[in-house]
Amino acid sequence: MIVEQQTDREALFQPLRIRGVELRNRIVMSPMTRGFCPDGVPAPNVAAYYGRRSEGGAGLIVTEGIAVDHPAAVGDAGLGEDNIPLLGNAASVDGWRKVVAAVHAHGGKIIPQLWHQGAMRKPNTGPHPHVPSVSPSGIWGPLGRMTSIDPKSIPADPRIGEAMGEAEIEGAISAFVRSAVNAVDAGFDGIALHGGHGYLLDNFLWEGTNQRDDKWGGSRARRSEFPAEIVRRIRAAIGEDLPIFFRFSQWKQQDFRATLADNPDELREVLQPLADAGVDVFDASVRYYNRAAFDGDSASLAGVAKRVTGKMSMAVGGVGINSGMYDRDKPAAVVSDFGPLLERFKAGEFDLVAVGRAMIGDPHWARKFREGQPTEPYRMDADNILS
Ligand SMILES: Cc1cc2nc3c(=O)[nH]c(=O)nc-3n(C[C@H](O)[C@H](O)[C@H](O)COP(=O)(O)O)c2cc1C
Repeated sequence: MIVEQQTDREALFQPLRIRGVELRNRIVMSPMTRGFCPDGVPAPNVAAYYGRRSEGGAGLIVTEGIAVDHPAAVGDAGLGEDNIPLLGNAASVDGWRKVVAAVHAHGGKIIPQLWHQGAMRKPNTGPHPHVPSVSPSGIWGPLGRMTSIDPKSIPADPRIGEAMGEAEIEGAISAFVRSAVNAVDAGFDGIALHGGHGYLLDNFLWEGTNQRDDKWGGSRARRSEFPAEIVRRIRAAIGEDLPIFFRFSQWKQQDFRATLADNPDELREVLQPLADAGVDVFDASVRYYNRAAFDGDSASLAGVAKRVTGKMSMAVGGVGINSGMYDRDKPAAVVSDFGPLLERFKAGEFDLVAVGRAMIGDPHWARKFREGQPTEPYRMDADNILS
C-alpha cells in the first residue's frame, strides 16, 4: 500500500506548463504572511527562507501577501506595523529581485501575492496611518457573525467610511497594475491576486460588503467587475506569457459562514468574468481541501471552480497537517496518508496542490513527500521564526 502510494505520488511531480512558464511539479507553497520585512523591504533572510523551499523541491512559491502600491493597502496585521512587504519603491523591488534569484537558483518558480486589505485594514496603522481605509460601499461587513477576529478589532459601527468613488476605484486598479509591472521588473514568473478572506477584491465580490447598484455591483457578475478589470489591465500590462493566479474564498474574516455562491451555477457567475478577463488558475481557499463545496456534489471548491470555468485550479487546506488553519484548538500533527489527495488529483479535480503550514514546518516538505520520508511538524511558535 505504501509502495503503491509512493508511485502515485509521482503524479504530482509531472511538470505543468501555464502560458510561457513551466513548473517542474504540482507542489506549491501557499501564500503566508510572516511579517519579516521591516520598512516593506525583504532582506537577505527572506531570500534565504524562500530559497530553502525551492531547494526543498517546491515547484512554485506564492509569496506572502505583498502590499500593492496604494496608501490604504495595508495596516498592522498583528505582526509589527511596518513589516509587511511592499512592491512599490525601488528598495522593495530590488529586495524582491534577490528573493526571485534565490528561488530560481534551485529550479523553482515564484509569483507575488498582490494584496490590498480594503475594509479589513486597521485604521490609523500601516505605512500611511492617516489615510482612510477603503471599501466598495464604505462598510466593514455585517456585525455579529461567526469570526475569529479579536472583538476589540471589530468596529462598533459597520459603516467605516464613504463608498469608493470612480477616482478611488481607478486609483486602486492602477495601484495593482503598477505593482504587477514592478513584479515583472523584479523577475517574478507571474502574478497572484488575493481575492479572498474579506480583503478589498473580496469586498467587491461579497454582497455583505458590496451594496452598490452601478457597474461595480448589483449582481454576481457585476460584483466581479472590479477584480476582473484588474485582471484585464494587468494582462494588458504584462503581456500574454505570464500566468495570473486568483485566490478566492467563500468565507470572510468578517463572517466564516459567508458564501459568494450556493451552488455551482452561482459559482460560475462569480468566476466566469474573471476567467474571461485572463485568470489562468483559480486558487480556492478552504480549510480542508477534501470537503465537498456544495450539497449533492462531492467535488471540492477547487474542483467546482475548474469544472465551471474550464481553467486550472489549485487545492489548499490541510495538506500534510491534520487541523484546519483556524482550528487552533486542535494540535497540529503531521498527516502522512495522502491517498485521498492523490485520488482527487488523479481524477483531474485540480491541477496544483498548495501546502501552507506544513511547508513552514519543513522547508524540504516537497522532496520528503516525494521520497516518502517523514516531515518535520509545523509548530505554532514557528510563526515567529523565519527558518
Ligand atoms: C502564518 C500564516 C499566514 C498566512 N498568510 C496568508 C496570506 O498572506 N495570504 C493568503 O492568501 N493566505 C494566507 N494564509 C493562508 C494560507 O495560504 C493557507 O491557505 C492556509 O494556511 C491553509 O493551508 P494549510 O492548511 O496547508 O496551512 C496564511 C496562513 C498562515 C498559517
